Amino acid sequence: MEFSRTVKIAPSILSADFANFGAECRAIEDQGADWVHVDVMDGHFVPNLTFGPAMCAALRPHIRGVMDVHLMISPVDAYLEAYAKAGADVISAHLESGPHVHRTLQAIRGLGCKAGLAINPGTGIEAVPYLLDMVDVICVMTVNPGFGGQKLIESAYDKIRALRAMIGDRPVHIEIDGGVTVENAGALVAAGADVLVAGSTVFKGGSVDRPQVYGANIAALRAAAEG
Ligand code: DX5
Ligand code: ZN
Repeated sequence: MEFSRTVKIAPSILSADFANFGAECRAIEDQGADWVHVDVMDGHFVPNLTFGPAMCAALRPHIRGVMDVHLMISPVDAYLEAYAKAGADVISAHLESGPHVHRTLQAIRGLGCKAGLAINPGTGIEAVPYLLDMVDVICVMTVNPGFGGQKLIESAYDKIRALRAMIGDRPVHIEIDGGVTVENAGALVAAGADVLVAGSTVFKGGSVDRPQVYGANIAALRAAAEG
């Protein structure tokens, strides 16, 4: 994974057809997705349940590019190796997932993956300066995690700007997760984001039989983000 701050669109397969994930991953990549975002939920850290490591391993051959695994799991450390072995390129763990996030990030890098730090809307960023040399991606949650299709929480903009200033010229991505739309993509990138996760905005109106809708949705997001 070469570092670049150009805009990357990362569709969340939480909004895909759950009976057809392989084809959905191929379709979004064919239609211009840069990363494929996989939302792992444990029914404890967040009030929903989704994908285990076997699911990610099964998806891996259907993803040519970056498999971006967002772990909404607590405690998380015991599961890192399984998701790395499943073929994740990026593994993000939550700042709130336990008291030893520094160790968690170290472990992710030790497994050969890029390390992501996800931060909930209600969590401050005072700890980030102490973690900056351990992270490759900061995933700013712009909704409370658990479900797709929620509205972006506006207080996130100040947080994104503050993180962008903290990062300086370090090769650290700012990823935005939750409520990303064509209307707010430009403002998010202007604030400092370079990876836009989008579930409902990308999958809305499309299907594996009508993949050009995904293409149009991704193109509209990219145009708004770059404009
Ligand atoms: C929320 C997930 C997000 C979400 C994004 O818990 O982490 O990735 O699915 O979905 P939209 O874009 O619909 O808000
Ligand atoms: Zn996510």
